[in-house]
Amino acid sequence: MKSRWQRILAGIGVGVLALVAAAGAWVLFQVRAYDASVERVYDVPVPQQVVRSTDPAVLERGDHLARSLGSCANSECHGSNLAGGHPLQLGPLGTVIGPNITPGPGSAAAAYSDGELVRLIQHGIKRDGRSVQFMPCHEFGWMPGPEVMAIVSYVRSVPPVDQTSGKSSLGTLAKVLDRTGQVTVDVARKIDHTRPTDAPITPEPTAAYGAYLARGCGTCHGQGLSGGRIPGAPASMATPANLTPDSTGLEKWTFDDFSKVLDTGIRPDGRKLSPDMPYENLSKTNLLERRALWAYLRSLPPRPFGNR
Ligand code: HEC
Repeated sequence: MKSRWQRILAGIGVGVLALVAAAGAWVLFQVRAYDASVERVYDVPVPQQVVRSTDPAVLERGDHLARSLGSCANSECHGSNLAGGHPLQLGPLGTVIGPNITPGPGSAAAAYSDGELVRLIQHGIKRDGRSVQFMPCHEFGWMPGPEVMAIVSYVRSVPPVDQTSGKSSLGTLAKVLDRTGQVTVDVARKIDHTRPTDAPITPEPTAAYGAYLARGCGTCHGQGLSGGRIPGAPASMATPANLTPDSTGLEKWTFDDFSKVLDTGIRPDGRKLSPDMPYENLSKTNLLERRALWAYLRSLPPRPFGNR
């Protein structure tokens, strides 16, 4: 006959097994839901009246956007010459490689029409009608039409580079965190495809224009910009800082401190920030954009560090 303890232990064993099985079934369910969602073909029409510009002023604007806030021409995105970026190792989330998007052979964008490129940027939808994975269209796809056209016109004007890029790979964790809303990988699912695109906004050194420019900061610094660890991010990734005017944030900072961080990655205390803070592209922002970003950060309610 089994002792009382043997029966209790056997009971616990069965309980643990049931929990492990339930957790496994839950993960499997999330992965299946993810896989089904990225197979979905979206019924979002390709814009027809798309006219690319060759006006030098428009190309210059596109170049500026691609290097600064659009961050296309970033070494970890599509590379400074747009011929493909360095693989971004995201630990258990996977490896992301921004492909070659020059007009050359081996380019992921060469087969796209201009209208299809506009749809990709605004809706996160690839040529085949499925969602792009990882490309953060939800962070800049709201840009007004003329800004998107400036980027597309610029991308089409760069010298072609004949280079084939490696393929991104995705870990199970990335799929699960996407489904639970902690990271965005299945980009088109997170975009409201019926939303109107933003009206053009006049660049001014105001908090209103700063709020517009700061939309992409929230992915890392959190929606309230109070910083904290990004869920699922590898332990090697630096923790995004608190950008609100709190004592655990930028309370004591001046505009010059802020501008210097964007230029050099060096904080007022002399510490150099990790390259996980994208100052490579933020250093390309101009004075007016910095003044606007700073006016916006100063207008935020102070929040303690964390809570994202
Ligand atoms: C890809 C993720 C990412 C994005 C996007 C991003 N940041 Fe950061 N940022 C970081 C990380 C990580 C740190 C902390 C780096 C460290 O401690 O070495 C940081 C630090 C900073 C700091 C320094 C704060 C301090 O106390 O040291 C400032 C200022 C800042 N970011 C501003 C911005 C602004 C403004 C934007 C948007 C225009 C932005 N960041 C977008 C990741 C990001």
